Amino acid sequence: MTYDVIIVGSGAAGLTAALALGEHLEVLVVAKGAQGTGSTLWAQGGIAAVLDSGDTFEEHIRDTMVAGAGLNRLETVEFVIERAPLAIERLTELGVPFNMEGNALHLTREGGHSHRRIVHVDDATGRAVQDALLKAAEANPNITLLGGHACIDLITGRHELRYSGSGRVWGVYALDEATGRVEAYTARATVLATGGAGRCYLFSTAPRGATGDGIAMAWRAGARVSNMEMMQFHPTCLYNLDVKNFLITEAVRGEGGHLLNPRTGHRYMPDYDERAELAPRDVVARANDAEIKRDGLDYVHLDISHKPPEFVKHHFPTIYEKLLGLGIDMTKEPIPVVPAQHYTCGGIVIDLNGRTDLPGLYAAGECTESGLHGANRLASNSLLECFVFGEAAAADILAHWDAFDEPPPVRGWDESRVTNSDEEVIIKQNWTEIRRFMWNYVGIVRTTRRLERAQHRIKMLRDEVDDYYGHFRVSTDLIELRNLLECAGLIVNSALKRHESRGLHYTLDFPRTLPMPRDTVLLP
Ligand code: FAD
Ligand code: SIN
Repeated sequence: MTYDVIIVGSGAAGLTAALALGEHLEVLVVAKGAQGTGSTLWAQGGIAAVLDSGDTFEEHIRDTMVAGAGLNRLETVEFVIERAPLAIERLTELGVPFNMEGNALHLTREGGHSHRRIVHVDDATGRAVQDALLKAAEANPNITLLGGHACIDLITGRHELRYSGSGRVWGVYALDEATGRVEAYTARATVLATGGAGRCYLFSTAPRGATGDGIAMAWRAGARVSNMEMMQFHPTCLYNLDVKNFLITEAVRGEGGHLLNPRTGHRYMPDYDERAELAPRDVVARANDAEIKRDGLDYVHLDISHKPPEFVKHHFPTIYEKLLGLGIDMTKEPIPVVPAQHYTCGGIVIDLNGRTDLPGLYAAGECTESGLHGANRLASNSLLECFVFGEAAAADILAHWDAFDEPPPVRGWDESRVTNSDEEVIIKQNWTEIRRFMWNYVGIVRTTRRLERAQHRIKMLRDEVDDYYGHFRVSTDLIELRNLLECAGLIVNSALKRHESRGLHYTLDFPRTLPMPRDTVLLP
């Protein structure tokens, strides 16, 4: 099947691109699982934008660069932040019901921001954004939404019927999750908007499908990836043995919540950083980790019970209800929290037009490394990046449309040498093993020896997974396992290349920060 443009992923980045392209071209949006079930749906805190008269672009840019420990590309930071107010305006036009205070948008505050600048829809901003984007996409006859299809690999010159071997991308091979059939979908341009790789870690706030598929597909096809060692850990994920990945938004700290040592009741953040609970995420996550490890704790406490109950319920209705269902009344008692993987700062290298290294291939959102986040993402800058780069990629495709050739005939998916698996247990076992050693060896505090241990395990698992992939029919679980392993390898190799501590990459073997910030760029 051939379309003008194929977009992989129906979160904030993918649907923003689809809506801009769908005004002129035939667009296919492919997503695994149900449409719009990526991280966008789960976003809580909001979207950062300079909208208050006392705030400036310069301050938002400075906060972003400070959080990113100087590894950000200034050109990208300016590009994104200056486009934020327009992005909020578009979302409002699409019907996102942002919270208001009188006639103005209500702005909340989060760590690392020197100003109140986060627009939000209560504490469930992502759901409101996802719903509005999906509704608009469904209403556009030029946009075909194809859920339940997991993309396996990009189609490139290697797959042309008349083999050219070029790096030109012509679309994707995708597995129909209902029938098990694999089809080739071709297009003049392809946009990857597949989200992050958080599920490489045992504890993550990200949804089940955050397995780095787009990053792995682009890497296998020959695109560079960069700064994969910059994995962000959110300081406050709920500690609960049954509910393993429920985020407690940073806005709880922004609105006055304190972090306490549960054993002593001591409010410890001022001991670690003068910005206390509002220090950037890497600082707070390391402080929580240090308290937990030093005192042998299971969790630390996040406490906002000193604020009036009505204030807490009004600002955090979703979290309040969720916790109440688990027997925790956050208006009366502290919430047990632990750090958990939250965001993938590194990814596919893109320029300001969302172009990757490969002709015909664009990327936007969490699967990319655009230069915005540097060594640590500033809170609520991520959805913003999705809107700005979704638009930018679409604008570039439209501007150069005449230069995009029609896709050539390509080879079908070859299943002649595979059979149905009789060893599904291998997938589950390897999936768990990767996530466990990544958590233990490639977590918040790293050492070269632990990274090398992880690298050794990845090498061993690669043989096993490649062998399995070569012999059995693909399933979504297998596709994800293969990509998870690929991304784990990219994270570890990047971490081993960085001989300093900067932002999210903190290693006991190289505790100092080098004078010159440099990206870790991996070449396929
Ligand atoms: P996603 O929204 O993750 O969408 C990825 C899409 O790709 C999905 O449709 C998925 O099905 C599809 N996909 C993936 N692989 C394949 C494949 N192989 N084949 C087909 N389809 C595929 N950021 C903020 O700025 N503000 C916040 O308040 C905020 N809160 C957050 C709270 C939580 C709990 C989490 C986890 C993240 C939060 N973030 C927040 C980060 C932000 O939500 C994400 O970075 C952002 O939503 C990513 O959007 P995306 O479009 O790049 O990807
Ligand atoms: C949160 O609400 O704490 C998440 C915000 C973000 O990840 O940007």
